[in-house]
Amino acid sequence: MKTKVLTFLKEAQGYVSGQALSEHLGVSRTAIWKVIRQLEEDGYYIKAVRNKGYCLIACEDMFTEAELKSTITTKIAGRALTFFEETDSTNVQAKKLAEQGAKDGMLVIAKRQTAGRGRRGRVWQSKEDGNIYMSLLLRPNIEPQRASMLTLVAALALRTGIWKATQVECLIKWPNDLVLEKKKLCGILTELSADMDEIHYVVVGIGINANMEQFPEEINHMATSLQLFVGSNINRVNLIHEILLAWEMYYDAFLKQGDLSLLMEEYNQYLVNCHDVVKVLAPAGEFCGTSKGINPKGELLVEKEDGTLVEVLSGEVSVRGIYGYV
Ligand code: BTN
Repeated sequence: MKTKVLTFLKEAQGYVSGQALSEHLGVSRTAIWKVIRQLEEDGYYIKAVRNKGYCLIACEDMFTEAELKSTITTKIAGRALTFFEETDSTNVQAKKLAEQGAKDGMLVIAKRQTAGRGRRGRVWQSKEDGNIYMSLLLRPNIEPQRASMLTLVAALALRTGIWKATQVECLIKWPNDLVLEKKKLCGILTELSADMDEIHYVVVGIGINANMEQFPEEINHMATSLQLFVGSNINRVNLIHEILLAWEMYYDAFLKQGDLSLLMEEYNQYLVNCHDVVKVLAPAGEFCGTSKGINPKGELLVEKEDGTLVEVLSGEVSVRGIYGYV
């Protein structure tokens, strides 16, 4: 009901009478009034004027379940969503819901995480409200070996979504980071549940430093946020919506071929350090070479000094510019 009232108020772009709302939604005017009160408790400013009705005053960064539901217009991604004020980790919650039968495209979002997780067992700082912590549940009909490519599809969607929502041009750091001015802006943690030849589900976890105003000293030199760059508050709902729209476009292209052949050209265009010298940190040792971009499987091609071309698989590998994180 909250979502319906909010959607109606948004679409009206002006005053809507209590009568019109109650007729449109088929409930009493008292019920409408109660929902208006709930929306106000959520932080919305709704002007009520006798003989005119209710008018929603635009808010900067309303980050509520109703706001998300009344904004998202995708086909599948995020159409069903679970919203937490606080949870341990949206990836953990998405996996739980997947085990209980949640459908392809379900999105889990949290305002804060108490146990946010990064790659390789690292902690993803998520205690503060203002950023984006979300996980998309997928049930693709592809071989399990192809699941890691979804991280690259997500990176493309993040880049495009961020561009559309904020006009900020960030770059992709293969395989799972987005960077802005050589600092980390987003991280992706993709988790897979599968047996030998069948995927049960994939969870693509996304953390975006949206409205972070400052970082702890130890990561300040390598982390940034959209707000720090733009200089004003970022509307998270709009940003999530643009990312989901972009996701559907790239995901369709990925599913069509079962690989990244339709996407690699665009990916390589936004790949940080493409054609530059990079250092590959692999468990078997490290080496330097020139990055030649990704291939259709999403592997990073690195040409060593002796001319041999190495196909670097994601997983336990990390790639750096030769001067530091980027
Ligand atoms: C990384 O760069 O190491 C990946 C970070 C991924 C963080 C996101 S925040 C939402 C989702 N829930 C988690 O616990 N982690 C991912």
